[in-house]
Amino acid sequence: MSERPVVLVAGASRGLGLELVRQFADRGWTVIGTVRDVTRAHELIRLEGERPDRVSIKALDIAKPESVAALKAGLGGERLDVLYINAGIMGPTHHDPRRVTDAEFEELMLTNALAPIRLAEALLGNLRDEKSVVVFMTSQLGSILENDSGDYDLYRASKAALNSLTRSFVARLRSPRPTVLSLHPGWVKTDMGGAQAPLDAPTSVAGMIDIVERARGAGGHRFLDYQGKEIPW
Ligand SMILES: NC(=O)c1ccc[n+]([C@@H]2O[C@H](COP(=O)([O-])OP(=O)(O)OC[C@H]3O[C@@H](n4cnc5c(N)ncnc54)[C@H](OP(=O)(O)O)[C@@H]3O)[C@@H](O)[C@H]2O)c1
Repeated sequence: MSERPVVLVAGASRGLGLELVRQFADRGWTVIGTVRDVTRAHELIRLEGERPDRVSIKALDIAKPESVAALKAGLGGERLDVLYINAGIMGPTHHDPRRVTDAEFEELMLTNALAPIRLAEALLGNLRDEKSVVVFMTSQLGSILENDSGDYDLYRASKAALNSLTRSFVARLRSPRPTVLSLHPGWVKTDMGGAQAPLDAPTSVAGMIDIVERARGAGGHRFLDYQGKEIPW
């Protein structure tokens, strides 16, 4: 068994997830990165090649229960110190509830709100102990209190739903209870964030890993940005 702490990053093919794998490995963690299509995860395959002792790749579509079940079976008794659920989508570019199709809304809510909770529930038994941390990658846009502009309606709704489901998940937890974090990465230059975003992925991810490392064993559930600033629900 590995002596290094182990983190599983769900949604590690690109963007923040890929950077999370890179930086956790740089800090000495054993990292399991999951991707939907293992044959197309070229950057992650390169990282695994450079760091075969620290980085491994597994397949996972978080929105498909059979894929979650296969991941769980593949993990067997592997213990996780951190479960980092990063995968997410933006939904239709118009963000307009008057135009969204039922199928588009379903995909957005399933991927961003329900699937992360189902994955956390499925892997609860793999968490090492009460010092373990479960991270949900949410967004400041999921804050109901801070929603004064009303834009990004659909994406906001999906992350607000994730936050609500996370609070219920936390309330249901029984001993040993992991620490739970709902993290906002900032507005970051990725495929999702776009080139005009003010933050780069390495800066955002360094801040979030600092928070995760400090949170081990702290207990509770917090909604924080990448700099550790509390965000109102
Ligand atoms: N960038 C920002 O400014 C920002 C701000 C706030 C919150 N966030 C959140 O941060 C997280 C990462 O965002 P990002 O900017 O890195 O986005 P990104 O560049 O679009 O990457 C999204 C990642 O999620 C994966 N993914 C999507 N649906 C999936 C599914 N069904 N199963 C498994 N993996 C799936 C993608 O895999 P594929 O390659 O297979 O599509 C990809 O690895 C998301 O939850 C996002 O909502 C981002």
